[in-house]
Amino acid sequence: MMKRTSLTMSVLALGALALGACEAKKPAPEPVAAAPAAAAAPAMTLPISLNAVMVGLVDHSSDYIFDVGNGKVPKTDDDWREAEYHAYQMVASGKLIQLAGTGPSDVAWTANPDWKKRSDDLTAVGMEALKLAQAKDAAGYRAVGDKLIDVCESCHTAYKPDIPTMKILHKPDFPHKP
Ligand code: HEC
Repeated sequence: MMKRTSLTMSVLALGALALGACEAKKPAPEPVAAAPAAAAAPAMTLPISLNAVMVGLVDHSSDYIFDVGNGKVPKTDDDWREAEYHAYQMVASGKLIQLAGTGPSDVAWTANPDWKKRSDDLTAVGMEALKLAQAKDAAGYRAVGDKLIDVCESCHTAYKPDIPTMKILHKPDFPHKP
């Protein structure tokens, strides 16, 4: 009995020692004054143009969403997972295009509250597509596709005409034939 107690005691003592060692290694807490400096950091930007994001991400993710709406119904679980991934891309892209990239008009566009609203619409339609993909509801995709095309077209009408694109060719026949 005595022996067990002293064993417990020494285990406890060891624990306390280890704790003490950890305590000693802990770095000093950050000074509170560092916070305002961090807030003044420059806004995050993209290392590519918004036009490139349009072609490489927004347009690509929309293809699959339009396809399902047009009757190319996913058959296997993998197909549905693919639909889900494209919906994630659409959800994220609506937020991503609220960051300015390297395009000549990107800063002006992203500073406009109307741009932010239209981009959020893209995310909202993406969320609808995501729920449909998770519910494996192909029929619902037609309405989502209609909403999506409205969001794309109305924003292009508002911002894209008379602004030269960066000559990134969009090839709707992807995968390209040789
Ligand atoms: C918030 C506004 C906005 C939304 C929403 C939007 N676009 Fe765009 N998109 C633009 C602008 C502006 C450009 C031109 C960028 C430039 O020229 O620098 C563009 C360019 C493009 C391009 C490249 C065109 C070219 O000639 O290089 C494609 C493709 C494209 N968008 C597809 C889409 C699709 C598909 C959707 C909907 C799923 C969509 N966009 C939604 C604003 C938008």
